[in-house]
Amino acid sequence: MNKKILDSKGSAVNYVSDLLIDAIKNNPSIVLGLATGSTFEDVYAEMARQIKNDKIDLSNVITFNLDEYVDLDKKHQNQSYVYYMNEHFFKWTNINRTNTHFPTDYEDDVALGKEFPEYDEKISIAGKIDIQILGIGRNGHIGFNEPGSSLNSITRCVKLTPSTIQANSRFFDSANDVPKLSVTMGISTIAKLTNKIILVVFGEEKREALQKLLDAKSYDANWPCTILYDYPDLTIVTDFKI
Ligand code: GLP
Repeated sequence: MNKKILDSKGSAVNYVSDLLIDAIKNNPSIVLGLATGSTFEDVYAEMARQIKNDKIDLSNVITFNLDEYVDLDKKHQNQSYVYYMNEHFFKWTNINRTNTHFPTDYEDDVALGKEFPEYDEKISIAGKIDIQILGIGRNGHIGFNEPGSSLNSITRCVKLTPSTIQANSRFFDSANDVPKLSVTMGISTIAKLTNKIILVVFGEEKREALQKLLDAKSYDANWPCTILYDYPDLTIVTDFKI
């Protein structure tokens, strides 16, 4: 486990964006696992700036997003993670949209508990994710794998916990408008179908979740982030001392 404790959010953002840009330059056909949330807004902005300045070609880059809401009402379509990725990143690049993937690409038939092995298979066929960036929820969720997520879970439709609905209500008019369901890569998807993970943890309110990971000796389903306790190539980037 490699820990990068940066002394400010700005330097942490630069560290992560430089790492991703260098990886794209070294491998223009890289497979990236992408995350959303406020954590990554500045990372994508900095990457977009460098991509424009240095005219970096993303036409062969392949991406798989971690998660996506289900059943967003019309009024809140701009809270979808597809919209987020377009606004914060894709539209500033020459990425080929057919190379970008979301776990709701099979949305016709979404219901709680339904699994989407097609998504995991697509990641396998692409040769696994070279670098996955991950945020973390205050309750230790990664993607939308909430407490209770099984070690063997694959991409599937899950229910959001009240604490996640509350945390994400800041992006909606009220907590009632936050979708109750999402589709997320599973715990097993993240652990087995990625080669390198960059976990980005901003804000003291996430310290408890991070500490659970740092102290873990095995997977604790109450804190889904603990799946990373023995992950071979994990870099943790924080903007606070740990
Ligand atoms: C959200 C997303 C996660 C994200 C996390 C942290 O609910 N499903 O993928 O990493 O929670 O979000 P934020 O960066 O806004 O704190």
